[in-house]
Amino acid sequence: MDVAGKKGKLKKIAVFTSGGDAPGMNAAIRAVTRAALANKLKVVGIRHGYQGMIAGDFVALRASDVGGILHLGGTVLKTARSAEFRTAEGRAKAFHQLLKAGIDAVVVIGGDGSFTGALLMSQEYNMPFVGIPATIDNDMYGTDYTIGYETALNTVVEAVDKIRDTARSHGRIFFVEVMGHEAGLIALNSGIACGAEVILIPEKKDQHDELKKFLARGYKKKESSGIVIVAEGEETGGAMKIADEVRHEHPDLDVRVSILGHIQRGGSPTAKDRINATRMGVAAIEALLDDQKSIMIGLENGKLVQVPFNKAVKLNHSIDSNLLDIQKLMNY
Ligand code: F6P
Repeated sequence: MDVAGKKGKLKKIAVFTSGGDAPGMNAAIRAVTRAALANKLKVVGIRHGYQGMIAGDFVALRASDVGGILHLGGTVLKTARSAEFRTAEGRAKAFHQLLKAGIDAVVVIGGDGSFTGALLMSQEYNMPFVGIPATIDNDMYGTDYTIGYETALNTVVEAVDKIRDTARSHGRIFFVEVMGHEAGLIALNSGIACGAEVILIPEKKDQHDELKKFLARGYKKKESSGIVIVAEGEETGGAMKIADEVRHEHPDLDVRVSILGHIQRGGSPTAKDRINATRMGVAAIEALLDDQKSIMIGLENGKLVQVPFNKAVKLNHSIDSNLLDIQKLMNY
C-alpha cells in the first residue's frame, strides 16, 4: 500500500522516540514540532514508541505543548522497545493506525534498532521515515555524534571523578562498568577524560594485556589507586567477572566494582546535546519537505549530513584506536 501525498502535499507528520531514552530527545521533539508547525504542517506525537504506534496512542502537538521541555532529560513522549513491531503483523497494525490518523510522514528519534524498524516499514508500506540518531551509545554509522552521548559521557566522568576520590583514599583498584551496548565509545572517551589506568572495550581485545601489565608492575609502588573502565559489551563478561579474576590472582589487592547503570541515561542534556538535537530536528523536517525518506540526519565534522538508513544500521561506528595509544602515553 502506498501513502498519498509526497512533495508539496505533505500535510501531517508524526514524531516519536524509540528504544533507550537519551538526554536531548526532548530538545529534538521540540525542534521537529516547531519546525513542522512553522512550515504549516500538522504534528502528531506518538507516545511509547512503536508500541504506541501499534496501539494508536497519538496526541496532537502544538508549539506550546513542547514548551519548557528543552532542558529535560528522558522523553515526554515516553519510549519503549517493542517486540510486536518486529513482526509483520505488528507493522501492519502500526501502518493502519498511521493511515487512520492521516499521517504522511514520520520522524523517528532513536538508535539503530529504531531505524531498522523504520526501514522495514518504509519498504513494506512506502511510508516516508526520517531518523534522528539519539542514543547514549554513539554507535551509529555515518554520524560522529548521537544525541545524549555527550551528556552521558559527562555523567560518567563526574561519577568516576568521585570514585577516584575514594579509590585514592583507600588505595583501591576500582573496576567501573559503563554502558554502551556492544560499543566501547563511552568507555574509551570517559577513560581518557578520567585518566583511567586501563580501558577495556569490545573493539580492542588486547587491552587485557594492558590490565595484566598494570597489575604486574605492582600499582602500589607507583600509584596509590587505579581506575579500570570496563565497557558493558566487553566480551569477557563485565566488571564483576573481571574483578573476581583479579581478586583471585592478586589476593593482595584491594579491589572494588562499581556498575554505573542507568544513571548514565538520565539528567539534563548538555548545551551541545540541546544544540545538535535542535539542528537535527529542523534538518529532519527540511528533509521531509524535500521529499527525502529512509535517511538518518547525521553530523560529520560539525556539518549536517543525510545517511541512508540501510547504511546507518548495517555498518559499525569505528573507534579511534589512536585514543588508546594516547591513554597509554598518559600512564607513563
Ligand atoms: O542503548 C542505550 C542503552 O543504555 C545501552 O547502553 C544499554 O546496553 C541498554 O540501552 C540498556 O537497555 P535497557 O534500559 O532496556 O535495559
